[in-house]
Amino acid sequence: MKIIVLMGGDSTEREVSLVTGDKVAKALEENGHQVIKIDPIATKEEQTELNKTDRHWIGIQYPEIDMLPLHRGSMYLKNLLIVKRLKPDLVFNALHGGKGENGVVQGMLDAAQIPYTGSGRVASMLAMEKDISKTYFRNAKLPTPRAIILERPDASRKKLKKIDFPQVVKPNNQGSTIGLKIVHNHQELEEAIDNAFTLSPKVIVEEFIPGREITVGIIGNRTFPVVEIKPKHGIYDYECKYTKGMSFYEVPANLDEETARIVQKISLKAHTVLGCHGYSRVDLRLSPEKEPYILEVNTLPGLTDISLLPMACAHAGINYNALVEMIVEEALK
Ligand code: DAL
Ligand code: MG
Repeated sequence: MKIIVLMGGDSTEREVSLVTGDKVAKALEENGHQVIKIDPIATKEEQTELNKTDRHWIGIQYPEIDMLPLHRGSMYLKNLLIVKRLKPDLVFNALHGGKGENGVVQGMLDAAQIPYTGSGRVASMLAMEKDISKTYFRNAKLPTPRAIILERPDASRKKLKKIDFPQVVKPNNQGSTIGLKIVHNHQELEEAIDNAFTLSPKVIVEEFIPGREITVGIIGNRTFPVVEIKPKHGIYDYECKYTKGMSFYEVPANLDEETARIVQKISLKAHTVLGCHGYSRVDLRLSPEKEPYILEVNTLPGLTDISLLPMACAHAGINYNALVEMIVEEALK
């Protein structure tokens, strides 16, 4: 098949996406596909420059598209037109965060009638906006930590006066723990909220669940073994996520059978109630009383060397190239 790997983009997770994209492209080629890499914010000149060291990038001249008076912020549109012109059998979406994961790119691909991997535009949006996902989880009776949503930087913060600490402050729609802070007093809380508002129009202040950090990978309707993460920083932050040796992982997590089964079951339900498709990874906390709480569903989970979905699949006997092929097959179903 001719497969275009979308990677890079303009989100805060650009660098992670470039790593995921490189690895996915290599696997696809080893699986026998024809691969082209496109960064939705790169100009033709930049793609051409990249092609000098890596022949998978394109820098193709399309005079009528090049004449479109688009500024850099609109490069997604221009590159999507180029994607359409290349007539791929499939787009492998290796973007993370921002337009690539929040439904915008999915909507553009829908409009252009190009098939792509992963969830569609609605599920992508629901999963990215943490406050909306929580409403869906609660409606489906899925456990999720209590949270207060601040809709605007100047919204009243009165409702935060009586909260217990610690709390977790998060931008409502970011990934990779960017802008996330665990806060222990009102001063830390205020600072973390102000910082999170620089990254997202809404901020979520969520009850901190003591206990363990666990995650469940899903492909199709299949859940993989629960992974437990033991980050060196105590919190699975950006550095612990993407630096080798900064986290210790247990696969499968040391859980009794019943707890593991419940965790997998509610994870699949979370994926389903948001309408996710193809694959995802559900992040949870497990309290000391063994009560699982769903934090979020990642519709484009990292596929780097040390990412969690590939780790869980490896434990189930599915190597990286096979995992990538499964994602491709799911997209074509
Ligand atoms: N947002 C990152 C890539 C993840 O969920 O793995
Ligand atoms: Mg996430």
